[in-house]
Amino acid sequence: MDSYEHTPVTVSDKRAVVIGGTSGIGQAIALGFAAEGADVVATSRRESAVDETATAIEERGANTTRVTCDVTDAASLEDVRETAVETLGGIDVVVASQGAISRDEVLEIEDESWDFVTDVALDGVRRVTQAMVPGMDENGSIINISSLAARLSMSNLPAYSAAKGGVEAFTRASAKELAPSVRVNAIAPGFVITPQNAETYAEGTEKRAKIDDRTPLGRVAEREEVVGAAVYLASDAASYVTGEVLTVDGGFADSAF
Ligand SMILES: NC(=O)c1ccc[n+]([C@@H]2O[C@H](COP(=O)([O-])OP(=O)(O)OC[C@H]3O[C@@H](n4cnc5c(N)ncnc54)[C@H](O)[C@@H]3O)[C@@H](O)[C@H]2O)c1
Repeated sequence: MDSYEHTPVTVSDKRAVVIGGTSGIGQAIALGFAAEGADVVATSRRESAVDETATAIEERGANTTRVTCDVTDAASLEDVRETAVETLGGIDVVVASQGAISRDEVLEIEDESWDFVTDVALDGVRRVTQAMVPGMDENGSIINISSLAARLSMSNLPAYSAAKGGVEAFTRASAKELAPSVRVNAIAPGFVITPQNAETYAEGTEKRAKIDDRTPLGRVAEREEVVGAAVYLASDAASYVTGEVLTVDGGFADSAF
């Protein structure tokens, strides 16, 4: 037999920046990467949240630094890039997990609400890509966090759905343009318990019962259950995967009854 060696699923040699990395899914990914041996800068707008997450990253033995950002401000993202390159020596992986939502009906939503959501969720992803790529080395991986709302209609989420549809289209567009040096993929989570929805999806609520009932795996997800998908897409084991959307939804989107 010819010699055979496959690339393991690991981020132990990676340097990652996680935008929106101080809460929910982004924080789980940041801590997961750190626990797997990566160096990680996790950033968002609030200094106290950045500090708390950086401490948790250090507790997992990883290098990090403390820097805030606002994805509506391109200069702040450039600052993150420069700080991360200075501290970690370069950037291999970027995760865009910032979130914004508004609950307005299609015929009711006003410019202010629409613009707020799309500015963070869609334009924010573009700004993250534009700011980070100049700091990324060959073999880079960008992971944009999308949502099932990109392909399933969900009531009162027109701006969010449009933004996430845009994120997936932008993921494919940038995958083509940035190849072969940077791979670009998205993760589309289903219903994941995080601070922004803990009340809505609380056990005992009608909403929770509906989701559990309709999901083939019979339950909502814990945020840690999204981490494996991110580790895979960040790792060299995914060296031939780009422009893809990896759905992590317990089977929800593809089940009829
Ligand atoms: N929780 C779910 O069920 C679910 C499902 C599908 C997709 N998502 C997506 O996952 C991502 C993370 O969501 P989450 O549930 O973990 O939410 P979360 O609110 O816990 O985390 C969002 C993070 O984004 C940061 N953020 C918000 N606005 C920002 C800005 N302008 N600049 C920089 N950072 C900003 C917040 O500070 C926070 O750290 C989002 O893109 C969300 O749309 C979540």
